[in-house]
Amino acid sequence: MDRRSFIQKAGLLGLAATLPQPLWAMMQGNKQAFLKALALQPELLAYASVDRERDIDSLTIEGKIPEGFNGTLYRNGPAMLERNGIRYAHLFEGDGMIRAYHFKDGHVSYKDRFVKTPKYIEEQKAGHFLYSGAATSIANSRAVTSPDMINVANTNVITVGDDIWALWEAGSATCLSGNNLETKGFVNLGDGLKGMPFSAHPKVDANGHIWNFGLDYSSGRVIFYHLSPSGKLLKAGMIKTDYHAMLHDFLITENHILLILPSLDMSGHGGGFFNQMAYNSDQPLRLIVVDKNTLEVTARHDLPPGFVFHFGNGWEDRDGTIHFDCCHYDNFDIMAEFADLMQGKINTSTPSNAQTIIYHITKDGKISRDKVAGNAEFPRIYPHMAGLKNQALFQTSTLSDNNWQDGVRRIDMDSGKIDLYHYGDDFMVEEHVVVEGPQGNKQSGGWLVGAALHIPSKRTCVNIFDADNLAAGPRARCWLNFAAPIGFHGNFIKR
Ligand SMILES: [Fe+2]
Repeated sequence: MDRRSFIQKAGLLGLAATLPQPLWAMMQGNKQAFLKALALQPELLAYASVDRERDIDSLTIEGKIPEGFNGTLYRNGPAMLERNGIRYAHLFEGDGMIRAYHFKDGHVSYKDRFVKTPKYIEEQKAGHFLYSGAATSIANSRAVTSPDMINVANTNVITVGDDIWALWEAGSATCLSGNNLETKGFVNLGDGLKGMPFSAHPKVDANGHIWNFGLDYSSGRVIFYHLSPSGKLLKAGMIKTDYHAMLHDFLITENHILLILPSLDMSGHGGGFFNQMAYNSDQPLRLIVVDKNTLEVTARHDLPPGFVFHFGNGWEDRDGTIHFDCCHYDNFDIMAEFADLMQGKINTSTPSNAQTIIYHITKDGKISRDKVAGNAEFPRIYPHMAGLKNQALFQTSTLSDNNWQDGVRRIDMDSGKIDLYHYGDDFMVEEHVVVEGPQGNKQSGGWLVGAALHIPSKRTCVNIFDADNLAAGPRARCWLNFAAPIGFHGNFIKR
């Protein structure tokens, strides 16, 4: 598709129609109810609202930070979860905060800042919520005429040149300074692309090029982006699907883009976009294969039903066989569990856990799959391995009877061998990311780094492991003097 026709099609998107319609009965969390529950269940600290920004010169270090481990771990996640006594109805709606852990010659400093989106600025000034969202309903809320009016930039953060981009899902990326975390504003990728959905899970290939997609929920159209390492648009295109629900992540291979559409439809009866989504066990997980050069669909395959937030990696053999892994759920109950957390309710009976499934799909459509024992989420691979066959896959995991992730593991994709570390029952573990070692090997070596909330002491720590030996435990543990709410995604850059 040439640029002119792309822009013409993009104009058809009708972004206003993508917005949640604030017509449902009042739905919101209650601060007092949450605080009451927090007093009884201290693990709810992971979902407490943040009311200040911090700069910390020096973290307390246990152990020794490995030589050569220099750079910044950027993290993003919902942190402003309430205003004026009202909590958001769903965790995914919280205003994003960027956390930057800076490692330099064995020393660690820390800075965090809210992403100053237009919504954040307006509502902070007002002292209360002004807008309804995908789950929260606010009385007499202001009209929402573009997704970016309620963009909370809370899901992921990537580095682009000297800047960082805080990512959401339904609207623009938000640009911040990588040094002082000052918000610069929405990223405009070019004519006709302003305000277009840009997912929170872009993939960076071996050349540093950035690939991403965005789903316009209303029309079912999916936009693809191919950006240079500095964030300049090289190519964009669009396909039409009949899918209108959540599409959180995607994959690339060497030659293709893989869109995997979960078994969700919009037959739900609740209020707001989130509650209109429903799991449909009669609807397959659908794989759409798109050529990276032409951005046209080349194949479609139906897989067994399921819901997936996250994929680790995809790759293809010379004979065209496609392989990919996913964190697979048998239903969509987890979405309601994220809403319950905002009310101070933790599912202690049968919490949703994802199982890792590795799919193999031949060019003539033969499908096979391998299941990995245990449960896991937040899959990560070595940087710049997206689309190439990865030997290592890192994930968080629940290794006890907790209803949160309390461990990390590495799967050897060739042997199936699993190396794991259990933090302990009283730690709540976030996504951990892989950092290349000095040799630059992308299949082994280097480090795994990530944060965990220690519930009894109400403090968060960042932990650095040898990526080849998680079982040995962290080589260094760097303590903040406060509890940071659990974040979603982030990345490490050596600078
Ligand atoms: Fe995600």
